[in-house]
Amino acid sequence: MRITGCIFDLDGVLVDTARYHFLAWKRLADKLGINFTEEDNERLKGVSRMDSLEIILELGKLNINAELKQEYAALKNKWYVEYISRMSPDEMLPGSLEFIKELRGAGIPLAIGSASKNTPAILERIGILNLFDAVADGNLVSTAKPHPGVFIKAAELLGVKAADCVVFEDAIAGVKAALNAGMMCIGVGAPNVLSEAHFVVKGLNEMSLEKLRIFEKEVSL
Ligand code: BG6
Ligand code: MG
Repeated sequence: MRITGCIFDLDGVLVDTARYHFLAWKRLADKLGINFTEEDNERLKGVSRMDSLEIILELGKLNINAELKQEYAALKNKWYVEYISRMSPDEMLPGSLEFIKELRGAGIPLAIGSASKNTPAILERIGILNLFDAVADGNLVSTAKPHPGVFIKAAELLGVKAADCVVFEDAIAGVKAALNAGMMCIGVGAPNVLSEAHFVVKGLNEMSLEKLRIFEKEVSL
């Protein structure tokens, strides 16, 4: 295949926001008397806000009505927004800015494909919104990963065919979403966790356009 569009997940691929999500969920879990560990938090990566809350409630075997669920999700988000409003550009993950700039310099269309409704706020806060040609996020697409919706939308906005796109993802649900979209997927993280991806790198500091061109030769979609 020949890649003509690159789609990046945001949380855990470009920015180190996972710990803020964890801190905010932990604060809610503590309030509800639910034991919630960093290990439990792994299950929340890439998962939508409401689905994440469901997992936490399940951990605590807590049954609550829909109205209260909305209230708790809003409370978690309020805390999360407080944390990310203090983020600085140096919280971008190593190598991510350099790789994006290299791709941009080569004229490759770039998009964000994230479940987060806080995507615009984070991109602006970090100062990288202008580096992307399109942003598909939780405000635009309501289906949650592993549904391919958000990546299909990103490709559509870029004007690139799904089969010509590569997705960079750190979450199992996100890797599945990319494959469901018929796209090549490069996992960012641990190979044993992201084993379904076509390739896995530890971080974007291991990526370059040259490496991408080598990878694409090995994939036919
Ligand atoms: C994903 C994160 O990118 O976005 C999840 O990996 C998060 O942890 C999800 O729950 C939704 O984010 P938000 O900001 O809309 O609550
Ligand atoms: Mg992620």
